[in-house]
Amino acid sequence: MVVHSFQQLGGPEEIRKYEQKRLKSLGLTYHPRVTGSLVLAVCTAVLGSLQFGYNIGVINAPQKIIEQSYNKTWMGRQTDVEHPQPIDQSVLTTLWSLSVAIFSIGGMVSSFLVGTLAEWLGRKRAMLVNNSLALIGGTLMGLSKYCQSYEMLILGRFVIGAYSGICSGLVSMYIGEISPTSLRGMLGTLHQLGIVSGILIAQIFGLDVILGTDELWPLLLAVTVLPALLQAALLPLCPESPRFLYIVRNEESKAKICLRRLTGQQDVSSSLLEMKEEKRRMNLERKVTIAQLFRSPAYRQPLFIAVMLQISQQLSGVNAVFYYSTSIFIGMGIKHPVYVTIGVGIVNTVFTVLSLFLIERMGRRALQLLGLAGMCGCAIVMTVSLTLLDKLPWMSYISTVGIFGFVAFFEVGPGPIPWFIVAELFSQGPRPAAFTIAGFINWSSNFIVGMSFQYIVELCGPFVFLIFALILLGFFIFTYFKVPETRGKTFDQIASAFRRNPSLLSHELKQHGTELEYLDNDSTV
Ligand SMILES: *[C@@H]1O[C@H](CO)[C@@H](O)[C@H](O)[C@H]1NC(C)=O
Repeated sequence: MVVHSFQQLGGPEEIRKYEQKRLKSLGLTYHPRVTGSLVLAVCTAVLGSLQFGYNIGVINAPQKIIEQSYNKTWMGRQTDVEHPQPIDQSVLTTLWSLSVAIFSIGGMVSSFLVGTLAEWLGRKRAMLVNNSLALIGGTLMGLSKYCQSYEMLILGRFVIGAYSGICSGLVSMYIGEISPTSLRGMLGTLHQLGIVSGILIAQIFGLDVILGTDELWPLLLAVTVLPALLQAALLPLCPESPRFLYIVRNEESKAKICLRRLTGQQDVSSSLLEMKEEKRRMNLERKVTIAQLFRSPAYRQPLFIAVMLQISQQLSGVNAVFYYSTSIFIGMGIKHPVYVTIGVGIVNTVFTVLSLFLIERMGRRALQLLGLAGMCGCAIVMTVSLTLLDKLPWMSYISTVGIFGFVAFFEVGPGPIPWFIVAELFSQGPRPAAFTIAGFINWSSNFIVGMSFQYIVELCGPFVFLIFALILLGFFIFTYFKVPETRGKTFDQIASAFRRNPSLLSHELKQHGTELEYLDNDSTV
């Protein structure tokens, strides 16, 4: 999986518990009901997550077929019609890596726009407008074969990446805002499930008995237009986020109408009060800009950790598997590589669900360490088994198990945990800026892996996984020594954990600590 949802996490459990306690102390009880409006709104939003996942997984299975189409296009453009030169392998590698990886550049650019769009148009209309990117991207990719232009496909991947970057932010924001507090965590995970299911659907559609053929692959890439149209048709029926209407726009009556629809109750005063509380708390803490986040030494250590964890998520090499697994399996001499790729998708989905339960119960640090160690072990298994493949053909089974384990351990630790840790290392004020930086780093490292994987494979064959193993080992050591446990801790406790680290003893940190204590005092009212 590439990018996990984040906004819906809403910060440490501490804050959520505090919110509930506070409501109770005000004599308010909360009976969330799952209404038709809520279901419709959540399902409509999740169509976006499905598309995001679909476009991550879709270029995996048909790689060889589309490459041959590039080859044909290349030869068709030559002036010497009698003896056209076939495409150079290195040019083909470049074109294909670019087609895969430019998706992340689109996501990187657009992830900066999420906040602005969501404030300007509102959550609902922003999603509606964003669908036009999916339509443009899908059309470009779908027509690229007909127009004999791989440039169109590459451009289409960029546009659909931009769609995905915006969508990822908006979906989690919208679901987080329309869900009743007690259901927020559960409904928020639907975004994540939507993404992994999207990857799986794409891998199944990519089968050569479905759409993964020489004639039908343009359709495979263009299918993404259908959920976009469906979402565009359903969105006008969905309520706008009451939090947006009330907190951002200050339109109390409109917010009330949406709340009534979402809760199915006439009396929405308790929800309204909750939003007032939220607004009050937001006003308590100044919003920190990205520049301030970089400048203030108080944030240096948490920011460093947040960035390192994002890099570890992508440089673990998991997207090498999601983008290129079919070609890896072909190299291993497996007869039906696409089916094994679907196996990867299934393992991924199952372990994503499993990790949702684990995260509630286990510490972040423990899970991250477990995941990194497991991935490192699997990468070593893959290196060894792929090296021995020539002498012992049955080693291909071992490496398949290695890849399954690699993906499973990813979903347990380095997949979800980095986003949790960012949410928990930063309080309300600096959190949006921290997420923007984390997202930027995540998409950039995603691009690096997507772009360079094939070259590294050409250079060092199976030892590419040894490189990942070394990187993973490095991040394991980093996590072991530098990353504090954040689960169930207040910001003050996290800050004092940093303080105990002597390299952190600076005047500014003490200042930071006071700021956090202030917050903490507030929470014990
Ligand atoms: C391109 O197609 C030609 C003719 O079909 C073939 O000989 C050549 O190997 C192909 N090139 C690559 C890099 O696949």
